[in-house]
Amino acid sequence: MSEVVSYQLKGNIGVIVVNSPPVNALSQSVREGILNAVNQAQEDNSEVIVLRCDGRTFIAGADITEFGKPPRAPGLPEVLSAIENSSKPVIAAIHGTALGGGFEVSLACHYRCAIASAKVGLPEVKLGLLPGAGGTQRVPRLAGVKAALGMITGGNPIPAPKAKDMGLIDEVLTGEDVESSAIAYAQELHRTSAPLKRVRDITIDPDTVEAGFFDEARARLAKRARGQIAQDRIVSCLEAAVSLPIDEGLARERELFGELVTSPESAAMRHIFFAERQAAKIKGLPKGTATRDIKKVAIIGGGTMGGGIAMCFAGVGIPVVLVEVDDAALERGLGIIRKNYSITVQKGKLSEDKMERLISTISGTTNYDDIADVDLVIEAVFENLNLKKEIFAKLDSVCKAGAILATNTSYQDVDAIAAATGRPQDVVGMHFFSPANVMKLLEVVQGDRTADDALATAMAIGKKIGKVCALSGVCYGFIGNRMLGGYGREAQMLLLDGCTPTQVDSALEKFGMAMGPLAMGDLAGLDVGYKAREARTDLPDDPKLYRMGTLLVEMGRFGQKTGSGFYTYDPETRRRQSDPEIESLIKTEATKLGVERREVTEDEILARCFYPLINEGAKILEEGIAQRPSDIDVVYVFGYAFPVAKGGPMFYADQVGLKNVYDKICEFRDRYGEQYWRPAPLLEQLAKEGKTFAEWDRERSLA
Ligand code: 3HC
Ligand code: NAI
Repeated sequence: MSEVVSYQLKGNIGVIVVNSPPVNALSQSVREGILNAVNQAQEDNSEVIVLRCDGRTFIAGADITEFGKPPRAPGLPEVLSAIENSSKPVIAAIHGTALGGGFEVSLACHYRCAIASAKVGLPEVKLGLLPGAGGTQRVPRLAGVKAALGMITGGNPIPAPKAKDMGLIDEVLTGEDVESSAIAYAQELHRTSAPLKRVRDITIDPDTVEAGFFDEARARLAKRARGQIAQDRIVSCLEAAVSLPIDEGLARERELFGELVTSPESAAMRHIFFAERQAAKIKGLPKGTATRDIKKVAIIGGGTMGGGIAMCFAGVGIPVVLVEVDDAALERGLGIIRKNYSITVQKGKLSEDKMERLISTISGTTNYDDIADVDLVIEAVFENLNLKKEIFAKLDSVCKAGAILATNTSYQDVDAIAAATGRPQDVVGMHFFSPANVMKLLEVVQGDRTADDALATAMAIGKKIGKVCALSGVCYGFIGNRMLGGYGREAQMLLLDGCTPTQVDSALEKFGMAMGPLAMGDLAGLDVGYKAREARTDLPDDPKLYRMGTLLVEMGRFGQKTGSGFYTYDPETRRRQSDPEIESLIKTEATKLGVERREVTEDEILARCFYPLINEGAKILEEGIAQRPSDIDVVYVFGYAFPVAKGGPMFYADQVGLKNVYDKICEFRDRYGEQYWRPAPLLEQLAKEGKTFAEWDRERSLA
């Protein structure tokens, strides 16, 4: 028998067990093992066959590491055919998550049962793929076309009881022990002479699909797809499920899966899948570093960020104390939290009861003595170093020994903040992104003296509250905000050079950014950047620099909050409209500043905006601020809505070719000056060696 799949006859039940940690993915050896076990069971005295898994989950899908490599037999379709054509009923017994190819294995079985805590799903779309082993053909046969569309294009797992209601599984088992419960179910099916049910035998009545359903789905999905093609191909597969016999539908699915698996989008999304998991690992941290227990949390400052952060902890049942300067500020902070929850209730995504429970997890105080017993403090007061130092000194005097003291600062020096305490080993940065209860990224900032266990705890608690964590060293703006500087600067410079705001934003939105940088400036408030620039002494003395942003603020056009900025906004819909007045103002300013306006191509817009990001990313790697290039990609995809289908700025740079990026940066340096365009030595080195960031990282880890 195979090392990863065993087969045993238990009375009249043949039990196949997959045991391939960590998630029983369908590697070649798992596929071969299942095939052999099913064939063996045909020959023995078994009357029913149960297929289950050991470990934390049922099969979690195809082995993603095998994609892009030459296929090795047996292929998944061959395994599924053997199951489906078995002369004895095969029952999939599910625990954990049956995902992707794993759920498709179960769909080829004659019956599916699951313990109540199990989930099933087809998450392929999140990897830029479609279910390639019958999911698009079998799910609509069981659950209907509409439900299949939602499930496959959304990619989210479905709890077993709901899956039963949808017709996707046959039985929710009462016990928690999957094998004994499944055997009992198998005996019951045998006793009642249950038939060999094959999903393939179901036909879909075309009349159950409304006219125009697929066209409408395509149009709707294209809007949110942001340059991804998988959604569109999923619709094609579902159309095939309705209009073609199953074998032709399966062939169509296979063909479209083949197209997607070799697409640049899927390569980028698979990169992000592994990058996300890699980012959670801290290099050099001793294995098994213990984490501290976090049972109660305090948040200092209940403003925009503090409130959202409090909601993150309440969401996982950890009590939170919000500390504010006075009662009025506290009332305001708690009021905003309540309002945010109420909006979710109004949208039908949260019950009133649950809302009250969440709110009751968050208490408020204006007295620091009340937080003496908390295990973690996250400071989120105004972005002012002296104020933050003052607060950390106070925390040092009131908090219990061993409490982790974290700051949510965007730019300030975490080491200087730590030095205001007598316990710098307990101080760490936990930089959330706005809105904190929604955005997935958490930059964990390691100070010079942060203790290993404090760092490990910050990463672990971040994961617990559902964040994707990436480690950053201390520098101005950490990984994300530091890289962003040149992006916003060039977006404004491009206006003087010949673009309209719409041209700049549209080029970046076409690339896949959720919102272009100028529209984003309008949303965040142009006054915020203006004030931040006023406080800086390191900016080049150049009248062109941020000229339009500055002028707009001086005109009182702060962005959406004043109804106009780079664009004007419809007060009702908040939809942006281009403003001819601004377009002519840009021209006047360019003339005043002696800039000769010209046609700017979309390619130049992308290069001007993204290459500064990449160049700064290279500097960040050289300095050891980020652990790896893929961590930077994680920061940008989860914190700045960089399109996942492009894999993050460093992955994108590798695809463009570092020599091309470097040459362009040199060209821009010669045209616009060294103060803005100085190639990072690492970028120059890799461009000359013909290497990618990924190759450099791999060689470095092997050295
Ligand atoms: N292939 C290869 N490795 C996988 C994998 C897969 N399908 N799924 C998870 N892993 C690896 C992870 O990279 C990680 O490796 P590491 O420890 O070296 O970092 C390890 O397994 C554990 O994964 P997680 O940290 O994600 O573990 P969790 O317990 O948090 O989550 C999970 C488990 C929910 C199963 C999650 O891993 C997951 O969502 N996996 C991906 C599922 C998926 O996308 N399946 C579809 C694949 S495509 C497909 O099936 C095509 C088919 O239609 C033909
Ligand atoms: P905010 O102005 O909305 O809220 C700050 C709150 O702190 C106010 O409610 C204020 O009353 C309170 N406060 C001030 N002094 C205090 C004290 N001594 N004790 C208790 N509370 C006090 O600010 P915002 O936007 O929430 O920012 C907070 C921090 O988060 C800043 O360091 C900022 O750089 C950082 N940050 C902000 C992001 C954003 O998009 N707004 C994103 C990520 C980080």
